[in-house]
Order: sequence, then C-alpha cells, then structure tokens
Amino acid sequence: MLYNCISKFNTVIILEVIVGRTVIDVKDARKTYVMGQEKIRAVDGVTFTIEEGEFCCILGTSGSGKSTLLNLLAGIEKLSGGDIIINGSSIRKMSEKKLSKFRQENLGFVFQAYNLLGSMTALENVELPLVFKRISPGKRKRMARSILKKVGLGGRMDHKPKEMSGGQQQRVGIARAFVARPKIVFADEPTGNLDSKTTIEVMQLIKGMALKNKLTIVMVTHDISLSKYADKIIHVSDGKITEIEYNENPLGGLKPAEPQPIDATHGEETVQQADSKQDKGFAQPTGLKVNKDTVRKPT
Ligand SMILES: Nc1ncnc2c1ncn2[C@@H]1O[C@H](COP(=O)(O)OP(=O)(O)OP(=O)(O)O)[C@@H](O)[C@H]1O
Ligand SMILES: [Mg+2]
Repeated sequence: MLYNCISKFNTVIILEVIVGRTVIDVKDARKTYVMGQEKIRAVDGVTFTIEEGEFCCILGTSGSGKSTLLNLLAGIEKLSGGDIIINGSSIRKMSEKKLSKFRQENLGFVFQAYNLLGSMTALENVELPLVFKRISPGKRKRMARSILKKVGLGGRMDHKPKEMSGGQQQRVGIARAFVARPKIVFADEPTGNLDSKTTIEVMQLIKGMALKNKLTIVMVTHDISLSKYADKIIHVSDGKITEIEYNENPLGGLKPAEPQPIDATHGEETVQQADSKQDKGFAQPTGLKVNKDTVRKPT
C-alpha cells in the first residue's frame, strides 16, 4: 500500500517534470462581435492548453482572430462563451479588479508598436510595472537598470523613445515585459515593425529571456518563419484552430552561460558593446525545422 502510494506520487512528479504543468487551459473559448445585423465570430470555439515554460505561437493570416484570442487569454477582452483557466483560476469568474491585479502580478506584454510612454526615458518606462507592484524607488531603479543592461541598452537608459531606433524601443518593451518577473509573457506581432536582422535579434532576446527565467510565452504572428522559435504552433483560420504542431527543435536555444565581461564603464556600456554581448548567449538560427512526426490534430 505504502509502496503503491510512493510509486504513484513519483509517477506524478516525473510526469510533471517531463510534460510541464498546464498554465493556460482554454475550453471552447468564443468571442463574437455584433456589428449591426452582422455577427463576427472572431474566436469560434477553440480548445487547447499551454504548458509551463512552453513557447507557444498562434499563427494565422490577417483577420484570422489571433489578436482577439491573445486578448482573451490575457483577460483584456471578455469571453462570449467557454472559459479560460490560468494557473487554476477561471478568468471568466474573476471581477474586473481581481483580473487587473492578476494581470499586474502574473502577466507581461510586448506590443508590435512598442507602446512606450513618449514622455518617459527608457529607464522610467521599464520601472512602470514595478511602480504598479509598489516596489520601492531604489529597488525598482536597480531592477530596471539591470534588465536594460541585459537587453543591451546600458548606454540608452536616459533616452526617450523618439531618441531610439525601432529595435532599441522594442528591447525597452521586452525589458518592461520581463522586469516584474511575470509567469507568462504575451507578445502580439513583436517584430511586426522591424527589419529582418533586428527581427532575429529581438526573437532571440525574447526566447533567451524566456528560457533563462523558465517563462511561458504566447506569441502571435502571421510569419511562419517566426513560428519556428516556438515549441507549439497553433494554426488559426476564421477564428478556429486548424492544426496544432509540436516542434522538437525550435530556434533560439540557449548556449551554456558565458562569463560576464568586467564592467569598466560602471554600467554605462555603449550600445555597440551591449549589442555584441547580447548575441553571445543565444544560438544562431540554423534552419531547424518543425518535426512533422510529432504533429497532431486538435481534439
Ligand atoms: N472590436 C471589434 N469589433 C468588431 N469586429 C472586430 C473587433 N476586433 C476584431 N474584429 C474582427 O474580428 C476578426 C479577427 O480580428 P483580429 O484582430 O483578432 O485578427 P488578427 O488575426 O489579429 O489580424 P491581424 O494579423 O491583421 O492583426 C476580424 O474579422 C476583425 O475585423
Ligand atoms: Mg492582430
């Protein structure tokens, strides 16, 4: 009897380590917009799960319902039907106040248009989620400075968004999304406004930060080449899931950690120094492919 209990207990632990715990459980989720006489089924009954530490990509053409689905997952849009359970809590049942607290404590966001506050410096923008979490000014400055260095912007902390390139602004956006150590980061077309070289840098940065911190990522894109960074690819069309693919060899895996260079600039490294440092931690894309053997159709 005792042996059986221990054995069952071990099996559960081993399964959780291998498979990962479900953090997002989507059950027949629906979102319908009513426009006069017309009903638009932007999300039309989707069911899937996202596991802890998974990089999940929602892939589809324009108008297929990707952003609506992401906004439902993040509790930004209200469901018309079905339910979404995040970390064991039904977001449908949460009050607006509880939902907004839940978002502040658990979720991070990266937007296509960066959504930085123009009147604030990079440092102040990154500090914002920590202000909402009521972290003391000294501590939040330290945390914001540290993450800005990690994204290669040690030399741009006092710049306002208009004094930075698109890629640099998105790195500020990524620092802001990760600084409060969320459990899940949602990204809607995070590289949509960037050139192809900067797109790779930004994707590697998001992937690297997620792996290092064991975070769950949900990213929306229309670009199939970006979906190759994901462990799981959810194809959507007309608000429905058409296929779920599993990728055994996603792009952007981590290389073993490298020693940090001595900071001779007292934190004020140049963007060039930071840029070259940033690329080192991550494997370059090498044409890894989606493993069709592991593709399964949604149930
Ligand atoms: N607030 C809204 N009111 C009415 N219809 C909406 C609203 N938001 C989205 N839609 C409709 O829902 C459908 C899905 O829109 P959604 O923005 O989710 O698509 P998407 O896949 O993100 O597209 P894109 O790649 O162009 O961003 C579209 O037909 C859109 O017109
Ligand atoms: Mg969209």
